[in-house]
Amino acid sequence: MLSDLARRIEDKSAVVSVIGLGYVGLPVACMFAQAGFQTWGVDVAAERIAMLNAGKNPIEGKEPGLAELIADVVGRGRLKCTTDYADLRDVDVVLVSVQTPIDEDDHLPRYAHLRAALTALGAVLKCGALVVIESTLAPGTVHKVVIPTLEASTGGKVGEAFFVGHCPERVMPGRLIHNLTNMDRVAGGWSPEVAEVMRLFYRNIVRGQIDTTDLLMAELVKTTENAYRDVQIAFANEVALVCEALGGDVWTLRELVNKSPGRVMLYPGAGVGGHCIPKDSWLLIANARDAVEAQVIPSARAVNRAMPAHVASMTEAALIECGVAIEHAVIAVLGYAYLANSDDTRDTPSQAFIEIMRERAAEVRVHDPYVHEFNGDAAAVLRGADAAVILVAHDEYVDADWTAWIELLRTPVLIDARHVLPDGFRAPGAQVRVLGKG
Ligand SMILES: NC(=O)c1ccc[n+]([C@@H]2O[C@H](COP(=O)([O-])OP(=O)(O)OC[C@H]3O[C@@H](n4cnc5c(N)ncnc54)[C@H](O)[C@@H]3O)[C@@H](O)[C@H]2O)c1
Repeated sequence: MLSDLARRIEDKSAVVSVIGLGYVGLPVACMFAQAGFQTWGVDVAAERIAMLNAGKNPIEGKEPGLAELIADVVGRGRLKCTTDYADLRDVDVVLVSVQTPIDEDDHLPRYAHLRAALTALGAVLKCGALVVIESTLAPGTVHKVVIPTLEASTGGKVGEAFFVGHCPERVMPGRLIHNLTNMDRVAGGWSPEVAEVMRLFYRNIVRGQIDTTDLLMAELVKTTENAYRDVQIAFANEVALVCEALGGDVWTLRELVNKSPGRVMLYPGAGVGGHCIPKDSWLLIANARDAVEAQVIPSARAVNRAMPAHVASMTEAALIECGVAIEHAVIAVLGYAYLANSDDTRDTPSQAFIEIMRERAAEVRVHDPYVHEFNGDAAAVLRGADAAVILVAHDEYVDADWTAWIELLRTPVLIDARHVLPDGFRAPGAQVRVLGKG
């Protein structure tokens, strides 16, 4: 059965489906369609499906090449999108890229979206199809959740009725197509033969190396690489706080530290957001909880989670210097997405900052060039405010004429939590504070 599937992949007669057309699934579906496979995109969001079938890009923010690619593959009939799983009856390879959030209180995954997708898929899945999970999973989840759910919904056994793999994604908003094309990938198969078929399949869109391995290793690699980043950012954030306390400058410090061999200190900032880094650390340790009392990862999470509160304290202290009490202050927040030049607002530290400011009775206005709700005129948001707080390094803020923008404020307080201001920026009479600079 697998050799037949391999042949169909080689001659591109295999029909492909991607379930979950978000930041990950949408570019993946487009790229397999562009590579010559008849592709079905599936999502529960009917509006998104309608937009896609009209050849329109539902993702805002700077995403090079994506809008053109969607228009092309939809226009040529290579990519068809649907909300109806019945359209997947003839599909040979199914990629699943639905969201995999954790519970806010206990930090454990629930997999409601994944289970729903696999249950609906199993009811129509043709015998011998390959199902590859691209979503990020707590190590152990393919065996604990994916295979049992598919066995229940198909009524068959893994290795007989269907095959399973895990090929986690390394994309990030702003670089979706670039990362998909150029990054190395890890293809974890239910068996070595399945992993080889996955390699053959992904070779159609991936120029980077494709390392084959087993399911657990693929799950471990993805969650470890994101937990690693979370911990490294927490380290940079903690050093930034030390620099502030001692009168140092973390931005110069990291440049000098990074001259030492083997040191790659990351940037500190206003917090860590998005649908990946904050949850993937918890996913890594989720299924090992009974055996391991993790220390480093939960501590790193706590440091990163506390950064919006730190920026709030910086803001309040600067306002006090200017004789303005926080409860009488108007705060202009610059940047609501979690990432520069993106429209992705999931788990954004800006929301945590805004909530803290509102709890302290400040009036908050928000600007973000990429987020619909807030994408008006930045000058209008700044005019008459008592503090401008830069939380995201969008190009518009990097390129802004800050001398002119600061003039718009009622009280000249400028907080830069992303090192956006040019080095040596001076605004006489203003309170300008940069995160990580004492
Ligand atoms: N966003 C990233 O940069 C990134 C990078 C690497 C890995 N990941 C991982 O990839 C996965 C997806 O992330 P994303 O950012 O694309 O999420 P997303 O929220 O942008 O997209 C998920 C899509 O799945 C759809 N969906 C949910 N349930 C469904 C169902 N039962 N049937 C069909 N569609 C359904 C949603 O409507 C949504 O459009 C997550 O596990 C994430 O951790 C994301």
